[in-house]
Amino acid sequence: MAFDNLLVTGGCGFIGSNFIRTLLEKAGFAGRVVNVDKLTYAGNPENLSDLEKRFPGRYVFLREDICGLERMDAIFTEYGIDAVCHFAAESHVDRSIKRPAEFIFTNIVGTFNLLEAARNHAEGFRLFHHVSTDEVYGSLGKEGLFTETTPYKPNSPYSASKASSDHLVRAYFKTYGLPVTISNCSNNYGPWQFPEKLIPLITLNALEGKPLPVYGDGRNVRDWLYVEDHCEAIWTIMNKGRRGETYNIGGNSEEENIAVVHGICDILDEIRPRSGAGPRRELITFVKDRPGHDWRYAIDSSKLQSELGWAPRESFRTGLRKTIRWYLENSQWVSRVQSGEYLKWIDEHYGSGGK
Ligand code: NAD
Ligand code: DAU
Repeated sequence: MAFDNLLVTGGCGFIGSNFIRTLLEKAGFAGRVVNVDKLTYAGNPENLSDLEKRFPGRYVFLREDICGLERMDAIFTEYGIDAVCHFAAESHVDRSIKRPAEFIFTNIVGTFNLLEAARNHAEGFRLFHHVSTDEVYGSLGKEGLFTETTPYKPNSPYSASKASSDHLVRAYFKTYGLPVTISNCSNNYGPWQFPEKLIPLITLNALEGKPLPVYGDGRNVRDWLYVEDHCEAIWTIMNKGRRGETYNIGGNSEEENIAVVHGICDILDEIRPRSGAGPRRELITFVKDRPGHDWRYAIDSSKLQSELGWAPRESFRTGLRKTIRWYLENSQWVSRVQSGEYLKWIDEHYGSGGK
């Protein structure tokens, strides 16, 4: 299916920026990408700074808040939007525990606004793809995998807000016939991830010789997926997925958090040894557990694999090494993010409309 004017929301964030790159550089997408992003602390236009020059007329960036329905509606009209890939969200569980309000506005009301804008422009509209999370299913015990029919049981304000948005998207398909697809994905890692999430946080702390905070006993399990594999899965679903359907996306890479942290320490000790200090595992510090901490996530992505022919390419072993190398090779990006310099740059270029 060809899309002419694809609205990508949250395109300056971690997965959204990787997705736009995949589309323009690799996937053979021939249309125009309109990237709408509010530029919160998690959005960094530097992630895509080369694209406007390299793809003139095919990449447009608009600093906008999806919570503004009138603006979303106007953008659909002005740019002839015929498809949406919706990433924009507040995405960090710990932040949702401390300050849930923004999660309700952006993740629920923002999604509602985009659905309304799409409904108002239904003629010629081809697809609303909603990017969601496996956290909507709650927590697994030792056995079993999340499938598309696992009942929703979200445990954090973040996952509850994402669950709510999933229900809205599905309801717009059933009630209004809006063409939609939904994907629920496991933990992503890779380049351009904001260093509040486990893998970049531990990598950068370990490089700087800082404590490596591990919640609880470190035995919680996540199913890790390299971000480019996620982007390819989304594009596959957008092009070939059945409308109204949900597809689970996962990496078949279950790891205990402590094993991930050990892996990062060992790779760094090998490629960037510490002089005059012991192995980085010594920096591990067990800290107070996250309230409501989901114990295990694991995805059954056989529907996506058998129906649409997608499978992850990257193993966790190779992907983790690649990711660590990326953070080592992009130290300027890292220091601008860590120092907050990127926020100053955003304010100078776009005004202080973020947060
Ligand atoms: P991120 O936090 O890195 O990026 C979110 C982006 O959304 C940022 O660029 C931010 O500026 C933008 N944004 C936030 N509020 C906005 C608003 N009101 N209006 C416009 N833009 C706004 O998030 P991510 O990790 O790239 O996740 C992207 C999506 O994928 C989210 O919907 C998340 O729930 C989902 N997801 C993430 C993962 C993961 O492991 N990171 C896994 C599964 C699903
Ligand atoms: O499963 C998909 C979800 O994965 C996405 O929907 C979320 O947007 C994304 O943030 C991620 O959620 P998690 O809470 O699983 O990711 P996070 O990187 O915050 O934590 C991963 C695991 O590591 C989790 O069990 C908590 C633990 N952790 C995390 C941090 C930041 C630590 O032990 N120490 C830490 O400092």
